[in-house]
Amino acid sequence: VIKMTDLDLQGRRVLVRQDLNVPVKGGKVTSDARIRASLETVQKALDAGAAVMLMSHLGRPTEGEFSEEDSLAPVAEHMGGLLGREVRLVRDYLDGVDAKPGEVILLENVRFNAGEKKDDEALAKKYAALCDVFVMDAFGTAHRAQASTHGVAKFAPQACAGPLLAKELEALGQALETPKRPLVAIVGGSKVSTKLTVLESLSKVVDQLIVGGGIANTFIAAQGHGVGKSLYEADLVDESKRLMEAARAKGGEIPVPTDVTVGKEFSESTPAETKAVDAVADDDMIFDVGPETAATYAEALRNAGTIVWNGPVGVFEFDQFAGGTKALGEAIAESNAFSIAGGGDTLAAIDKYNLADRISYISTGGGAFLEFLEGKTLPAVAILEERAKG
Ligand code: 3PG
Repeated sequence: VIKMTDLDLQGRRVLVRQDLNVPVKGGKVTSDARIRASLETVQKALDAGAAVMLMSHLGRPTEGEFSEEDSLAPVAEHMGGLLGREVRLVRDYLDGVDAKPGEVILLENVRFNAGEKKDDEALAKKYAALCDVFVMDAFGTAHRAQASTHGVAKFAPQACAGPLLAKELEALGQALETPKRPLVAIVGGSKVSTKLTVLESLSKVVDQLIVGGGIANTFIAAQGHGVGKSLYEADLVDESKRLMEAARAKGGEIPVPTDVTVGKEFSESTPAETKAVDAVADDDMIFDVGPETAATYAEALRNAGTIVWNGPVGVFEFDQFAGGTKALGEAIAESNAFSIAGGGDTLAAIDKYNLADRISYISTGGGAFLEFLEGKTLPAVAILEERAKG
């Protein structure tokens, strides 16, 4: 693909699609990781002499309607503070924007425009007409073929990948396509069903696949152990067995916890108890891997060449069930491996244990990160590849 940094932007109208879909509460941005990640691109475009227009979605508003609740106003204000210059929010822009070099304009939530989500061609052409150069920099939304991510790239005079998108693709490619081995992946989270394709595609490339959270419960059941009242998916037990056998056949493995930490109910105050995996009672709920299991997994992480992390291995929001996630997070941070992490809950765990500085790359993608792990083509990237071919 063509990169933004390869183009001459002097005096040109540059439209950057970013993923500024951040949590907002009471008119304030509550987590600004995605905004901070987008600043370098804005600064580079400004330094190159461009008139900079940014666009993003926020939330999932009723399409075609303005709503105060999903306005990008708090984002414009927050970004202005971080950049130390005004970020002007423009609400009516489809028929043209007066943008001057040196200025930063944020176009209001693209999902207020009818046709955005269905990649409407007329809307995409309107976006394209605003600019000389379209820069796709929203890795977090690259799995969506929508007018502001995909359609616009078809019709803009020039279309290229922004620095953040390029960096994300490079980091993910390094982890999955040319990894230093052993490659160890941790997939946590509540359900096998939502991560089945991720598990399948990772099990083909990794040397070890560590499963945690509710996902691990289904694997524990697949080994013939009782899981009491734990969250697990009976209809995916056979699928889990098949994944374990397939991993074994290619010399890898999907280990199952040897001990677990259980409680009697899902609550912050329920007492925790650690048990051998074959001693789970009928009224127990498994909420974390046990310390022995965490130590075994941590050892594998310390010796890894590359680590891919998606999903906590326990209910880390409750401190008595946070031990596994904390121990694995710290092992990743201490490891010399090239480590990459992504997904909302994973980022929350990284924040909670202050691991961010010691992880090689933290993706800004949630759904997009998972689709990349699944080996899917991201449509907003595919269109840039097509355009680059001419
Ligand atoms: C995300 O937060 O994963 C992206 O911004 C995409 O948002 P969406 O799932 O509403 O398309």
